[in-house]
Amino acid sequence: MQHLIETDDFELKEILSILDDAKRFKKERVNPVALLRDKLLFTLFFENSTRTRSSFEVAAKKLGAAVVHLDPTRSSTNKGESIEDTFANLGAMDPDGIIIRHEDNDIARKLADMNLASVINAGAGNRAHPTQALLDLFTLKEHFGELEGKKVAIIGDIANSRVASSLLLLLPRFGVELKLVAPKPFMPQEASCEKYENIADIIDDIDAIISLRAQLERHKKPIFDDYSTYASHYCITEEILDNRDIIVMHPGPVMRNIDISDEVLSDSRCKVLTQVNNGVYVRMAVLKKLLIDS
Ligand code: CP
Repeated sequence: MQHLIETDDFELKEILSILDDAKRFKKERVNPVALLRDKLLFTLFFENSTRTRSSFEVAAKKLGAAVVHLDPTRSSTNKGESIEDTFANLGAMDPDGIIIRHEDNDIARKLADMNLASVINAGAGNRAHPTQALLDLFTLKEHFGELEGKKVAIIGDIANSRVASSLLLLLPRFGVELKLVAPKPFMPQEASCEKYENIADIIDDIDAIISLRAQLERHKKPIFDDYSTYASHYCITEEILDNRDIIVMHPGPVMRNIDISDEVLSDSRCKVLTQVNNGVYVRMAVLKKLLIDS
């Protein structure tokens, strides 16, 4: 039984095979043979989600799987049941996979260690969001082809972002040079990449920007009183991009005119909705990998 808790759970050749499958699924457009027609998946989201939950459900259904969503706000965890017991009870229904998002950095790994079903991490605290990183990798490769030597700036609340944590592990495996741009409270001290406080310092030396929102729900106390001042330094605008050949990405949800301006969101260089589209095909490939190929 194989789990996906962090992208390091996959060897390079496994990731390349996921990217190949995702490319094929995207090219074919029509639903492939119902590869997962005998499979049962639970989705268990203890934190809000628009993209990841629906993307997993669409991906699973395109492959013919049955998907059952358990709403944690109405589950018996509210009556005091531990998450391990919740998981053991779901496991007793013989699912093939459980897709989980939780604020705790370690819970997905702990549940995977119970080996009741293949566990797929759909977002763990600020630690990991492996399928987002994989779909970002796919989107970069789709645009650039070879990634060796490409320079990508991650801009925003990097310290509190699980997407950034996963990208920091994944993209250098493909030869990407990462540059981090953030005000001090948003900069992870432990990261070993080049660090900058100003976009102007890197804008002429990058191929792509991955913008991130302020993760307000993970701030123990407010970090900035006024996000319009923050935006005046870190919002990606047409003025910043000018006529440069740079693509702009963001995992969503985008805080309009704080992370990325309205104009840039409508610019052909902005790949935000391409990322969402690619997410379905990448998650189809991840489900195939974990539930069929492993
Ligand atoms: N990118 C992402 O995780 O979005 P959601 O929180 O809407 O799932």
